[in-house]
Amino acid sequence: MEALKGVRILDMTHVQAGPTCSQLLAWMGADVIKFEPPQGDATRGQLRDVPNADSLYFTMLNCNKRSITVNMKSNEGKLVFVDLLKTCDIMMENFGPGVLERLGFTWEKIHEINPKIVVGSIKGFGSSGPYSDFKAYENVAQAMGGAMSTTGVPDGPPFVTGAQIGDSGTGLHLAIGLLAALHQANRTGQGQYVEVAMMDGVMNLCRVKFRDHQRLTRQSLAEFSVPTYQNMGDVPRAGNDSGGGQLGNAIHCKPHGANDWLYVVVQEAVWADLAARIGPDVGVPDLATDPRVATIAERRKNQSLVWTLLNKFAEKYTKRELMAILNPIDVPCGPIMSTTDLATDEHVKGRDMWVELDHPQRGKWFNVGMPIKLSASPAKIERSPLLGEHTDDVLKNVLGYDDAKIASLKGAGAFSAPPKKAA
Ligand SMILES: CC(C)(COP(=O)(O)OP(=O)(O)OC[C@H]1O[C@@H](n2cnc3c(N)ncnc32)[C@H](O)[C@@H]1OP(=O)(O)O)[C@@H](O)C(=O)NCCC(=O)NCCS
Repeated sequence: MEALKGVRILDMTHVQAGPTCSQLLAWMGADVIKFEPPQGDATRGQLRDVPNADSLYFTMLNCNKRSITVNMKSNEGKLVFVDLLKTCDIMMENFGPGVLERLGFTWEKIHEINPKIVVGSIKGFGSSGPYSDFKAYENVAQAMGGAMSTTGVPDGPPFVTGAQIGDSGTGLHLAIGLLAALHQANRTGQGQYVEVAMMDGVMNLCRVKFRDHQRLTRQSLAEFSVPTYQNMGDVPRAGNDSGGGQLGNAIHCKPHGANDWLYVVVQEAVWADLAARIGPDVGVPDLATDPRVATIAERRKNQSLVWTLLNKFAEKYTKRELMAILNPIDVPCGPIMSTTDLATDEHVKGRDMWVELDHPQRGKWFNVGMPIKLSASPAKIERSPLLGEHTDDVLKNVLGYDDAKIASLKGAGAFSAPPKKAA
């Protein structure tokens, strides 16, 4: 974990979007100090599966970080925050609109305290424009960034995707921005403000849908199995169509359960071999040259026939068996992997993408591993911190406070929640 060695991050992020980003940076070697309110990141207690233990929601997004609790609503807590700002290279947050400003820390103020610090900020809709005052969660971003209107089938409701493109996707975008700004700060001595809006991140990930949006002003979308026509307006939902230059679809396999599907791309280059392999078994021996599907244009027009024949062929095979038939003839395909498939898969295990960890409150658990593999800086995944586990460590070893100073700050409530007022 050498790549970001020496980079210290003041991580005020919470829930998913920000913590995804800081966890990746920690896995690249940054010293990430998770700066939490005294009651902790709300996800510690959300979707709990083990009583009194930090939830998997929290543990899976906060590995390799140190945790310090500071009450930012006390003057002493703000002093600790300012001291940390002076020692960090990056500060990052994903509070709701205006939270940091209400605490008295605008970007200008932070830049004045430490001109070299890079500040990363995730908001639902950024700091400008008519939506800037709104809070956002994953599915709000998927709804507003174009993902939901283009996911599903035309006569059904819009769907969200399982991949957390609004939260984790935005975290990835922020990581890229922070590393670029850090590079610039190291050259110029000046930090900058890096802002990523979740809606913008989702739009970026839906880029090809805006390709289709503009194509529709000139033509129908011949690769879609659902009806399209010039000037129809919105890009329609198109089920499992490939949405690219090659035709593709999910093929149902034996024993026809919820995840017994193989996604098959009928790449132009492999049509002749694929047709020769399946045609005789489905009663169309000359499928490769059958005029209904012989050319790519015909296959696009009659793609429902291609899918019907492939589904018929697949009736006798499981998704793995069908994959074993198609791989040798170079047909790009992949089984629809369930979470169980993935958690028990040898390939996944071999690539350290399903990692076993221990935790003092919950015992053995698993995290999804580090997807970015650096040859000279492999990630070593360590458990998430308990709430405030490193408060004293950070105060002493990062800020150089002595015992007397720590005791007096504690006495003044810098690290604890104020007592609740009687009702
Ligand atoms: C996710 C979100 C909707 C959660 O909303 P929320 O639970 O109301 O939390 P907010 O971030 O708006 O507010 C946090 C509060 O905690 C307080 N707080 C945060 N850290 C604190 C600390 N260390 N000490 C004391 N108070 C603290 C803030 O001051 C704020 O209080 P205020 O409302 O009195 O100003 C909101 O944070 C948001 O829209 N974030 C940006 C988009 C985003 O990242 N969404 C995806 C999350 S996965």
